[in-house]
Amino acid sequence: MISIGALIGTWSVATALRRFLTPTSRPASHTHALGRIDDVVRDGARAEVAIAGTRVLIARRGDDVRVLDLTCTHARCPLEVHLPSNRIRCACHGGAFDLDGNVVQAPPTRPLTRYEARIVNDELFVRIHQEST
Ligand code: FES
Repeated sequence: MISIGALIGTWSVATALRRFLTPTSRPASHTHALGRIDDVVRDGARAEVAIAGTRVLIARRGDDVRVLDLTCTHARCPLEVHLPSNRIRCACHGGAFDLDGNVVQAPPTRPLTRYEARIVNDELFVRIHQEST
């Protein structure tokens, strides 16, 4: 006969072992201070910026700031912003996204990665999360 204490002990050890052996799937993230918001991107404008090796497109409308990763979600090729057509294009396989990061031309099926942005005391902060390789 197995006691309740033995069952609880076995369950606790199994849970701890599972946590240790299962790698976390959450990517590491870091918040970066980019400087005064008006120096980074004017109101109503867009700017391409590299943050810790990650190319992003920053779009600003007042205090609303959107930050998109300029890496294609199909096979991770670098993207080019083409403002006359309001498209973000990929030269590798012809994929395209709109300026909100939505797919408008296959083969990509996922929208562009969007990063969290905040303005604090006129300073722009962006949280970038790196995919683990
Ligand atoms: S990597 Fe961009 S379309 Fe394939």
